Amino acid sequence: MNYDVKNLKLSKLGKDRIEWAERDMPVLRLIKERFSKEKPLKNITVAACLHVTSETANLMLTMKAGGAKIYLCASNPLSTQDDVAASLVNDFGISTFAIKGEDNKTYYRHIQSVLASNPQITMDDGADLVSTLHSGKYNLSKIIGGTEETTTGVIRLKAMAKDGVLKYPIIAVNDALTKHLFDNRYGTGQSTLDGIIRATNVLLAGRNVVVAGYGWCGRGVAMRAKGMGANVIVTEIDHLKAIEALMDGFLVMPMSDAAAVGDIFVTLTGDINVVNRQHFLKMKSGAIVCNSGHFNVEINIPALKKESNKVRKVKEFVDEYTLKNGRKIYILAEGRLINLASAEGHPASVMDMSFANQSLSAEWLVSRKSEVGSRKLKNDVYPVSKDIDEKIAELKLASLGVKIDKLTPEQKKYLSSWQEGT
Ligand code: ADE
Repeated sequence: MNYDVKNLKLSKLGKDRIEWAERDMPVLRLIKERFSKEKPLKNITVAACLHVTSETANLMLTMKAGGAKIYLCASNPLSTQDDVAASLVNDFGISTFAIKGEDNKTYYRHIQSVLASNPQITMDDGADLVSTLHSGKYNLSKIIGGTEETTTGVIRLKAMAKDGVLKYPIIAVNDALTKHLFDNRYGTGQSTLDGIIRATNVLLAGRNVVVAGYGWCGRGVAMRAKGMGANVIVTEIDHLKAIEALMDGFLVMPMSDAAAVGDIFVTLTGDINVVNRQHFLKMKSGAIVCNSGHFNVEINIPALKKESNKVRKVKEFVDEYTLKNGRKIYILAEGRLINLASAEGHPASVMDMSFANQSLSAEWLVSRKSEVGSRKLKNDVYPVSKDIDEKIAELKLASLGVKIDKLTPEQKKYLSSWQEGT
């Protein structure tokens, strides 16, 4: 079933929104212009499982400009912007299978619909598309390769490669510097707070904000919460990251201690039950708990339900759990990605670089079609080519009108010499 939205008013809103995002995606625009002329993806079928946002729409239009046939579904049941999905279908003729709030069954049915296209390239965010494609029900004879957008997806795919079950090469877009240094840090940092604020309108100044996980996403959230006047506490399982958080000026403690003092909790670890039954029992009444990690497994909501007498929705994206001890705990967006559920995800300006990596990595894979399966391009997870990463940084700076210095011949010579520096 295609998501055949006849609501033209919705499409109009979506089209305007896609155009608005495009203004802040200059690197992707340059790639789209080149793709339109060179058609590097001519007749290539692409199955994409991404958050269906205005920024993703611009990526899809770039791929289409390159000649690709696109099938798009959502990479999370709550992250779809319905107006954007409607516009992609009605205005741009892109097969889109996504509805905000779709249940799990529909979510997977949409993934299956996209896979029915018999894709040559997969573009995933979280690896649900790739793992479904590896279920044994699909013919992989046409596949060239895939790209993966997020940390969680890369971890899953590397586990598949290690177990020898990955059936085609995948580029870890997440690991490009022009992706995670900006998207994960500044994108998640800003959009997570945006999501919390839109859902609750809570004042951050003076509040104790507990950030679980000090990877690039956690770093961004901690930094931005501090900037808004919160007292930030970081919880970690990694010694190095914990020292880094400490020296970045944050309190570091285990979740079992943080639980009692936190006002707002944000999980960004990629792991399960980071906020668990024993933590809920220690929390202050009124504590707000949300997740900005890829899957809705970081907060143990079933355990919270068991400890509660009553659950009610107090406003959109805010559920109030009244515990048997009388305290109230607020869970945002059912523990799903708060930045995409109640806000609009990362700003276009960072998605510009992430999606430049996506489109150029897809082009790179297609250009190496003949090497797929050979020793040159095995069924493994590969980094984005350094040339692509550097080019994107160069283009982004140029689009922002920022110039930098160049090494003089004398400096180049000095850097390549091992002799004494005096
Ligand atoms: N992931 C986080 N923010 C996003 C956005 N705006 N579009 C697509 N994927 C995202």
